[in-house]
Amino acid sequence: VKIKKAIFPVAGMGTRMLPATKVIPKEMLPLVDKPILQYAFEEAQAAGIEEFIFVNSAGKTAIEDHFDAAPYLKSVLAKKQKHNELEALKAIETAPGQISVVRQPYSLGLGHAVWCARQLIKDDYFAVLLPDDVIQSDTPCLQQMCAAFEKNPGNMVATMEVATEHVSRYGIIKPGTQINLRTHEILNIVEKPQPEQAPSRMAAIGRYILSPEIFKPLDDHQQGAGGEIQLTDALASLIGTVPFYGFCFEGKRFDCGTKMGLLDANIAFALSREDTRLEAENILKKYR
Ligand code: G1P
Repeated sequence: VKIKKAIFPVAGMGTRMLPATKVIPKEMLPLVDKPILQYAFEEAQAAGIEEFIFVNSAGKTAIEDHFDAAPYLKSVLAKKQKHNELEALKAIETAPGQISVVRQPYSLGLGHAVWCARQLIKDDYFAVLLPDDVIQSDTPCLQQMCAAFEKNPGNMVATMEVATEHVSRYGIIKPGTQINLRTHEILNIVEKPQPEQAPSRMAAIGRYILSPEIFKPLDDHQQGAGGEIQLTDALASLIGTVPFYGFCFEGKRFDCGTKMGLLDANIAFALSREDTRLEAENILKKYR
């Protein structure tokens, strides 16, 4: 099975980034010279995704506008011979109809956001990318996962070890049998446990490949940690019914949903790009 559809939950209010996110969606804050969301979008494109579904909320239409074709802007750039700028716009172009937007009318949790896209997913396996999690890697993370999924189909989540004091920020898994270097079975997953209750220090990171079976438990709208409808709980309830794998991706993950995480990512990406590295190094030297 090839994964063709991806959901981007972007309905959040971005309260951790206020006041920057009072009128600008947090997904549109810049990471060097692209909005945060564009990184996950390009990652999905690289993985062969053909249908892009934004689960959005009121007042955040800048998101779908950003991924629209912008013919007028392009014609102006063409007339002014601004080739690089034109290319930068073309990089994220999709064919008409490849982007859909569904609304999540109430902030009821990640599980609910995914459930809101159920009518567009129907009976296909699909990917979910949480744009706050930006992953810098040689092979885009979702592409790595799609390759692993072809060998071991089932529910799959990206995993990463985190510090004990941070386990309560994540879905934490109980790892089972190691299938190969990067893929392992998952015996359980718990949303935001206290360190004493955590089954390990292996955290779920915001990249998922999901069976459409996930909509069955999500239909129940059961509240979990923080009173929210959790994707983690729906995944846990399918253990034993749908195979469930963790994938230890190659790459470095940044939490761009926090101020310092976004700053960290800006520094790391600026230092890793040929066109910005020297200038970024010189700026950093000033503060040593
Ligand atoms: C969500 C998931 C959590 C996962 C995390 C990864 O939490 O619920 O299981 O570990 O993303 O970033 P959130 O960050 O939305 O609270």
